[in-house]
Amino acid sequence: MNIMFASSEVTPFAKTGGLADVSAALPKALSKLGHNVKIVMPRYYSINPANLEKLPFNIGVPVGGLGTLWAGVYKSYLPNTNVEVYFIDYEKFFGRSRIYADESGYSYLDNDKRFIFFSIAVFELALAIKFDVDIFHFNDWQTASGTALLKYRYNWLFPKSKSVLTIHNLEHQGIFGKEAFNYLMIDWEHFNLYEFEAMGLTNLLKGGIAAADKITTVSPTYAKEIQTPEFGFGLHDHIKAHSHKLVGILNGVDYDEWNPKTDKLIPFNYDVENIEVKKKNKLALQERMGLEKSEKKCLIGLVSRFAKQKGIELIAQAMEGLLGLSADFVFLGSGEKWAEGFFSDVSAKYPNFRVWVGYNNELAHLIEAGSDLFLMPSLFEPCGLNQMYSLRYGTPPIVRAVGGLNDTVENYNPFTKEGDGFKFWEPSKDALYNTVKWAVDTYYSDDYKIIQKRGMKKRFSWERSAKEYEKIYKEVL
Ligand code: ADP
Ligand code: GLC
Repeated sequence: MNIMFASSEVTPFAKTGGLADVSAALPKALSKLGHNVKIVMPRYYSINPANLEKLPFNIGVPVGGLGTLWAGVYKSYLPNTNVEVYFIDYEKFFGRSRIYADESGYSYLDNDKRFIFFSIAVFELALAIKFDVDIFHFNDWQTASGTALLKYRYNWLFPKSKSVLTIHNLEHQGIFGKEAFNYLMIDWEHFNLYEFEAMGLTNLLKGGIAAADKITTVSPTYAKEIQTPEFGFGLHDHIKAHSHKLVGILNGVDYDEWNPKTDKLIPFNYDVENIEVKKKNKLALQERMGLEKSEKKCLIGLVSRFAKQKGIELIAQAMEGLLGLSADFVFLGSGEKWAEGFFSDVSAKYPNFRVWVGYNNELAHLIEAGSDLFLMPSLFEPCGLNQMYSLRYGTPPIVRAVGGLNDTVENYNPFTKEGDGFKFWEPSKDALYNTVKWAVDTYYSDDYKIIQKRGMKKRFSWERSAKEYEKIYKEVL
């Protein structure tokens, strides 16, 4: 099949979260199954054009009310593969330092124009490179309107193409003023409560869901959760109405990147058979973060966006208790300013807590390799990748039993000795504290090694996920 995969972020070119990892790993796995996948993304300012091939043509991108905007196109490949990546170059929209928001965290005010422009450009690119597309695969609100563009605007140019929309996170829906709908250049009859309209505003994800031939989300549990008021962010009824085309497909792990046996970003490689080597990474991590060096003392890691979704408020509320446990903590993350400030203050005051505020891939790998337990108490989690990395690195995760966390982590059972992590259900500081305490106690017991090894042997292969995507592509075609 010929698959055009559109995403606003793709590792290693631009990343704010797991969407970028999936947007590289899934096309790679699909291509291994023999499909012709081409990825398309914006050329942000941070992507150096000197490393890309400039294609000898421009594409005209007709945007409602703005006329035809002429964009350049660059090309490259996913590292060590022959999967092509196309970059849409348009200085006015993408020639700025960040992807979605400025340095203070404020979303760019023209994100509607930027990403509708990009979604339209996907079709113009396919035409320009004469790609006979079977499946247009869109991701999240940024490209969601592509499904409607295909159905109502580009259908005569791609009469046999179908669309798939993957929801990686329902919290972000791309809600803009009514005028944003105009940029799409599709008939105003689609601005109604069953498609793009939400209380007089334009909701790109909502309209995208309505027009998609298939919708997927990134774990089976999340596919159920988003049909309920608790997790639906106002769209649960809309999603329910379209649930006949919804499937939950668990993300995989790119074990070329996340494998303690071969990881080039950690100082000491190890695996199940020489698990004792992991301790050397722990010492390296303690030293790097200014914690007291100790092979024995429990070390708990966290790598996360500092966003409400990730349960950082629960952690802050439980902090006093957590600091009293016989454990050290290393946190890596950035995001909400209060959290950056709060964790920095705790870090300055308490010898058993350290935070590194910012984005640091190498440190993320070292935290996975050097920690004894990994904390991920999300309020909701469509899939989550770090808990799967943790399992592979022998760092049993402590998670809230939601979404993909529920689907990937098996709760430790002290009686049967089964399980590979620690789960809690209630989103409260007490449940969080009690579960971390239970995990720390278990760390100091003989069962810890059993839990650790079981997790290390578990695999979340992209091949399996890609085959599920392949199946739904075939269904829609
Ligand atoms: P989300 O996409 O909701 O942020 P995921 O768990 O799916 O959550 O993916 C997060 C990805 O981003 C992981 O690969 C994780 O290692 C990475 N990540 C998050 N924050 C940081 C950070 N501060 N530094 C380095 N990597 C980070
Ligand atoms: C989103 C979700 C995360 C998921 C990722 C990749 O960012 O928050 O849970 O793993 O997308 O699908």
